[in-house]
Amino acid sequence: MNNSSLEEIAKLMVAPSKGILAADESTGTIKKRLDSISVESNEINRRSYREMLFTSPEINKYISGVILFDETLRQSNNSGKRLSEILEDKNIIPGIKVDKGTWPCPGFNNFPITQGLDGLKQRCDEYFELGAKFTKWRAVIKIIDSIVPIEVIEANAYALAMYAATAQESGLVPIVEPEVLMDGKHNIELCKKITETTLNMVFEKLDKYKVNLKGIVLKPNMIVPGSESSEDATHNEIAEKTIFVLKKCVPKNVPGIAFLSGGQTEIESTLNLNSINQSKDLPWEVTFSYGRALQQSALNKWQGKEENIIESQKVFLHRAKMNSLAHNGEYNLDLENT
Ligand code: 13P
Repeated sequence: MNNSSLEEIAKLMVAPSKGILAADESTGTIKKRLDSISVESNEINRRSYREMLFTSPEINKYISGVILFDETLRQSNNSGKRLSEILEDKNIIPGIKVDKGTWPCPGFNNFPITQGLDGLKQRCDEYFELGAKFTKWRAVIKIIDSIVPIEVIEANAYALAMYAATAQESGLVPIVEPEVLMDGKHNIELCKKITETTLNMVFEKLDKYKVNLKGIVLKPNMIVPGSESSEDATHNEIAEKTIFVLKKCVPKNVPGIAFLSGGQTEIESTLNLNSINQSKDLPWEVTFSYGRALQQSALNKWQGKEENIIESQKVFLHRAKMNSLAHNGEYNLDLENT
């Protein structure tokens, strides 16, 4: 695939009023989610849950693309139609998670590094043949006792760059996801400092490995206090600090930024995205690529029961719509009751 196709897909992924659904929970993570509603995590239940989300009426008004897990990209519904084709029929772009999860970083065992570079080119080529148009790799930057060693940030950034270059060589748009975890007692200033260091390192490595920045989507964390911090930050403060760091670190030719929710509640992540988009001079599209913050209420409503599908889809669509409004800076809390 040539560069212009990659660039077109990246633009479609972050199109105005739309965002990305992260439904690529690994087998272990989806088990945790299904355990929380006492539903067994087997292939059929995982498929039913995701099929329920993907077949929500009018999902395509708010969702541009869906990140899938390997199993889902290969799954078909009861009529033999691939789940990825159900998405494509609605003009929703199917993508695929290609990393292999985290592992203790050699030399710095308390800190994670993402694995999965071995065999990545072959996996990407196969996923391209299966119809995926974009990929995701999540690097996890964990703050422990107020530090992250620079070596750990560098190793994660190197892996992200090798991944992004490989994905583009296979004709797939890479979602580049360096997530500074919310976990911990750190304050918002430390999140800001470590996110800035991480993003600078990531763009240095992307440049080194000749990644076409017009053909990526960046998926960062917002700048927020740690989840165990006693500090409170307003939506405006979070927006202001997040925009400051992004403007400092992210080149203008990146077409779009799609945030992860990272443990924020559904409403918080929508309010924060909206506050960010109320700034009128952002050089990129700024949208959502949420997992938990799009799915949590829908999962709770579903409970694994066929009779709950319609209500659960309504709940999911409502969240997608609220975030679509936040992408345009047009959200407010009163809309939650519509
Ligand atoms: P959350 O929005 O639940 O953080 O998930 C997004 C994601 O894709 C993490 O890799």
